[in-house]
Amino acid sequence: MTEAIVKSALSKVMYPGFTKDIVTFGFVNNIEIKGKDVHLTVEITSSAPEVGQQITDDATKELKNVGAGDVAINIKAPQIPREDSSKGRNIAPHVKNFLMVSSGKGGVGKSTTSVNLAVALAAQGLKVGLLDADIYGPNIPRMLGVADVKPEVNGNKVLPIKAYGLEMMSMGALMEEGQSLMWRGAMVMKAIEQFLRDILWSELDVLVIDMPPGTGDAQLTLAQSVPVTVGLTVTTPQTVSLDDSRRSLDMFKKLNIPIAGIVENMSGFIAPDTGVEYDIFGKGTSGPMAEEFDTKIIAEIPIEMSIRTGGDEGKPITFVDPSSESSKRYITAAAAIWTQIQEINANGGVDNASVQPNTPPGVSACSTAPQKAAAPAPQGESCGTGCGCH
Ligand SMILES: Nc1ncnc2c1ncn2[C@@H]1O[C@H](COP(=O)(O)OP(=O)(O)OP(=O)(O)O)[C@@H](O)[C@H]1O
Ligand SMILES: [Mg+2]
Repeated sequence: MTEAIVKSALSKVMYPGFTKDIVTFGFVNNIEIKGKDVHLTVEITSSAPEVGQQITDDATKELKNVGAGDVAINIKAPQIPREDSSKGRNIAPHVKNFLMVSSGKGGVGKSTTSVNLAVALAAQGLKVGLLDADIYGPNIPRMLGVADVKPEVNGNKVLPIKAYGLEMMSMGALMEEGQSLMWRGAMVMKAIEQFLRDILWSELDVLVIDMPPGTGDAQLTLAQSVPVTVGLTVTTPQTVSLDDSRRSLDMFKKLNIPIAGIVENMSGFIAPDTGVEYDIFGKGTSGPMAEEFDTKIIAEIPIEMSIRTGGDEGKPITFVDPSSESSKRYITAAAAIWTQIQEINANGGVDNASVQPNTPPGVSACSTAPQKAAAPAPQGESCGTGCGCH
C-alpha cells in the first residue's frame, strides 16, 4: 500500500451533496500506512454527523477495494454551535441559527437567492428551513414547485411543507392563489411572529428567511423576535440598486446583525448557447460598498436563463443542475455563510436585547410617528426606537 494508491482510492469519495471529491477539496490529512493498514484524518466543514458517517463508509469501501487491511478514519468536524450561544429574545428556540436575506430594492433576486442558498446549505448535510416572510408577495411556494400544496394542521400548529429536503412556510401556502393581502403594519408583525412560533419547524440548523424588499416592520419584527445570526444583502450592480442596498446594510448595522456579505445578482450574463459571459448591468460594482460596511461580495451570480426558468417551474438550479456555474457560486457562498455562522456562535453568538421595542406590544416603532417622538433620546447610532429603518 502506498500513499498514491490511498489518494487515488479516496479521490472516488465525493463530499456529500457536492460533485467534488474529498482529496480535491484538500480534506485528507495525516495518511499513515503500516503494511496494508491505513490510518488517516478527514477534516470536513460540516458538523452534521451524517456527513462524517457517509465519508467514513465510502472511504472505507474504496480503500478496501484497493486491498487495504485495517482502515481507521478520524473525522475532524467543526464544533456544533452551542444552542444557547445567542442571547436576548427568541420565540423560536428550537431553531439554532437565522439567516436574514434582505435588499433595499424589490425584484433584485432575494427569493431566488434564498431558495438556492437554502438548497446549497441542505446539500452540506444541514437541516434547513426556508421562511417566506414576504407577506404581501409570497413567491417561495412557486419557486419550490409546491404552489398547490396546502399545509397540514396539527392542533393549533401548522406543519411546514417539505420540498427539496427543506422545510418551508409561506403566506402563499396559507391563502388561496391570487388572493391579495391588504394588511397594516401591526398585522404583518403578528404574521411574522406566528410564522416563528406557530409553525412546527424541526430542530433546524438554520432558518433562511426571505424578506420583503425594504427596511420596515417585517425586518424589525424579525430582529426583535429572534436573535438573527447573520444578514445577507442582495443587490444588482446598477448604481440605483446600490443606493438602496446601502440602506439594507445600514439596517443590519443598526439592528446589531452581523453581515454575512453581499450577493451581487444579475452580475454579467451567461449566454445559454455559447456559455460566454457578457457584462450588462456592470460587475463587481458593489465592491466599494462592501468595503464601506466591512464585508465582502460573497457571490456574483450572472443572469442565466435557467435561474429564471428554475424559479418559474419550481426547479431550483442548485438542485437540478448543481454543476452549472451559478450553482457552484451559490454552493461556495452557502459554505462561506455556514463557516461564518459557526464562527459567530463560537464567539458568543448574537444578542437582540438592544433592539427590543420601547413601544407597547403590537405597535410598530417604525410605523407610529407619535411613539417615535415619545421614545427616549437616541443612543449612539440608534434613533431611540430600537428601529433600524429610519
Ligand atoms: N441571476 C438571475 N438570472 C436570471 N433571472 C433571475 C436571476 N435572479 C433573479 N431572476 C429572476 O428575476 C425575477 C425576480 O427575482 P426574485 O423574485 O428572486 O426577486 P426578489 O428580490 O425576491 O423580488 P421581490 O422584491 O418582489 O420579492 C424572477 O423572475 C427570477 O426568476
Ligand atoms: Mg421575493
